[in-house]
Amino acid sequence: MSLIKDKYERAIDYLRISIIDRCNLRCIYCMPSDGIKPIEHKNILSYEEIIRIVRIAAGLGVRKIRLTGGEPLIRKNLPYLISSINNIQGIEDVSLTTNGLLLQKYARELAAAGLRRVNVSLDSLLPERYREITRGGNINDVLNGIKEAENAGLIPVKINMVPIRGFNDDEIEEFALLTIKKQYHVRFIEFMPIGSREIWNEEKYISTQEIKERASAVAPLMPVKIRKSGPARYFRFDGAPGVIGFISPITHHFCDTCNRLRITSDGKLRPCLFSETEIDLRSAMRCGASDEEIERLFRLSIEIKPEGHSINHEKSFAHLKPMSKIGG
Ligand code: GTP
Ligand code: 5AD
Ligand code: SF4
Repeated sequence: MSLIKDKYERAIDYLRISIIDRCNLRCIYCMPSDGIKPIEHKNILSYEEIIRIVRIAAGLGVRKIRLTGGEPLIRKNLPYLISSINNIQGIEDVSLTTNGLLLQKYARELAAAGLRRVNVSLDSLLPERYREITRGGNINDVLNGIKEAENAGLIPVKINMVPIRGFNDDEIEEFALLTIKKQYHVRFIEFMPIGSREIWNEEKYISTQEIKERASAVAPLMPVKIRKSGPARYFRFDGAPGVIGFISPITHHFCDTCNRLRITSDGKLRPCLFSETEIDLRSAMRCGASDEEIERLFRLSIEIKPEGHSINHEKSFAHLKPMSKIGG
């Protein structure tokens, strides 16, 4: 099956699916302190609906599936979903973005079901600060979870860190140093003006250039080419087993090579993280749409995929759905 391209010649082969909007944490930049009104259970896509969507997407050339949340590991019977997706013809890579709290418990089972890799969100290595950023998380659970993921062969483990000025930016070097000891991909992500409005402001945002300068204080960083690296640009300290990635949604538009579509936990197909146009797959399916009709909605989403986004660090995107509903 040849890949489907959008009107900007971008081959679309990657689908990110948020399987649940709920989370067992309340990260300060993602959720308000009193949480977000969760989507009613009946309005969340069922596993059968997700599997059907993936089958249709695979027919159009989608090869990679990433499951996100909220926190995907709190949804029951996840190994069933993973093995079902993994068995769909054409799907080559199933991965997960998680806060890691439950990895210790589930990593082996997930790997056995066919999960290839995990990306873990970790914004501090200091127990007290981690508890504060996540409003209650225990860092030992995440660190043990990462170890278990490695043992289960879910590699490379990618660690996502969002540096926030005055909050955790003094740990940039410490995170960079992890790559000297371990084979991790440590990725620094520019703080985007979406999600919780309680803490984002321009002063707290740090550009990739500044993050990189601060990581380079450890030792010189050399560029490395990683095949299919997605939005991250990678570097390495001489001789280090791990690599450091920079994801720069604000300063470096990677939109020209964007290969992805997203599905929100309530079943809306979203051509871009910042898109306000969504296509309601859930309603279509529940009204009896055929596979061909769903396929047409996919094609439509690819047709309207915008060339790029216009966020910058001055403009607020408070009106967008929270990240926990879109899946990052
Ligand atoms: P792999 O390359 O498959 O490992 O996935 P990834 O790095 O895209 O996945 P992950 O879920 O770890 O995403 C890391 C961060 O990059 C998240 O904060 C996302 O919000 C951000 N990101 C991923 N894709 C996009 C995108 O298309 N646009 C923007 N602006 N940000 C993105
Ligand atoms: N800016 C940058 N990254 C964010 N994430 C969540 N909200 C933001 C934001 N406002 C990241 C999380 C997680 C990934 C899915 O999205 O840290 O790693
Ligand atoms: Fe949960 Fe991820 Fe949001 Fe933190 S950033 S509250 S782990 S969905």
